[in-house]
Amino acid sequence: MPQKMPVYASFRSIGAYAPEMILTNEQLETMVETSDEWIMKRTGIKERHIAAKDEYTSDMGVKAAQKAIQRANISKDEIDLVLCATVTPDYFNMPSTACIISDKLGIHDVQAFDISAACSGFVYLLSIAKAFIESGVKKNVLIIGAEKFSSIVDYTDRGTCILFGDGAGAAVISATTDKAEAIIDIHASADGSYADFLVTPSPGSVHPASHEAIDEGLHFVKMKGNETFKLAVKTLTKDVIEILKHNHIASEDIKHFIPHQANYRIIKAVGDALGLSKEQVVLTVQKYGNTSAASIPMAINDIYESGRLKKGDLVLLDTFGGGLTWASALLYFGGEDQKY
Ligand code: COA
Repeated sequence: MPQKMPVYASFRSIGAYAPEMILTNEQLETMVETSDEWIMKRTGIKERHIAAKDEYTSDMGVKAAQKAIQRANISKDEIDLVLCATVTPDYFNMPSTACIISDKLGIHDVQAFDISAACSGFVYLLSIAKAFIESGVKKNVLIIGAEKFSSIVDYTDRGTCILFGDGAGAAVISATTDKAEAIIDIHASADGSYADFLVTPSPGSVHPASHEAIDEGLHFVKMKGNETFKLAVKTLTKDVIEILKHNHIASEDIKHFIPHQANYRIIKAVGDALGLSKEQVVLTVQKYGNTSAASIPMAINDIYESGRLKKGDLVLLDTFGGGLTWASALLYFGGEDQKY
């Protein structure tokens, strides 16, 4: 009997979308007691994109997904699973944003669902797509990280409103037998004992929608900024050291290190701890802020569109978010080089 070739999951394509409107630090200075200098020094963020009032998470997800499908050189009809990571879905909590995106893309009769893992959402999706593909259940999985974070930000709270932005990123993950274009490994984990570090209290079964909940601002994101910062540095660093060690890969072998884009100081601390050069570390936080589940794919898309990301490049992803959740991934980029 002929030996069955092992099937791997390949990161086939990337696409992203950032809404047109830009919110600058100077504009924030007119809204809360802050300054461009403080925001730049403490976060590295210069501006962030904000969706229009009638532009929803699914709309941004669709725009990113259309690019990813086109760049994967497949027809939308070949997609057999649609997954969306978001903490700012079109609706709390039915229908899923993945169902709405599928419909807007004209993808029907295909399994679609959302996951909630905050900023770690995209790498969590990658682990799900990998498992579905390697088990032979699916062949082409569309994964989307999309957030209209501005819909849960309190623009009178200077501790959070300076950080977050809107956007979406998407990728097609496909089956391959070529190990040189495969996702090598993914580590994803969580610790609910830190659940109170990042919370949107309402609506939910603890605080169902009510006038009181709105009056108390429970529909806005709440964050223990400094505690989150410290844990992020520690967890992100530990996470990548472990995945590199587990796969016998040295940090100098990484072509692109793409960490979650939350704060320049966090990114720098992790990059320094790993001994990575400036050229290896991808940085987009200055122009998008923290776009939660969209942050990693938007950053991948940036280096793809600028021609830096090439087929076969060794990429290390590292993310951290509410839950708390965290995840890292090692992969050879399996997509075609940017042609235009
Ligand atoms: N402008 C000016 N001053 C501000 C401010 C702002 N936007 N936000 C907070 N401050 C003030 C605080 O009130 C505090 O003042 P005080 O010393 O008089 O009390 C001071 O700055 C320091 O606050 P602190 O929260 O300790 O600052 P920080 O160095 O931790 O920076 C964050 C704040 C939010 C930028 C930082 O904690 C952070 O990035 N945290 C992680 C966020 C994150 O990654 N979240 C998502 C995870 S996915």
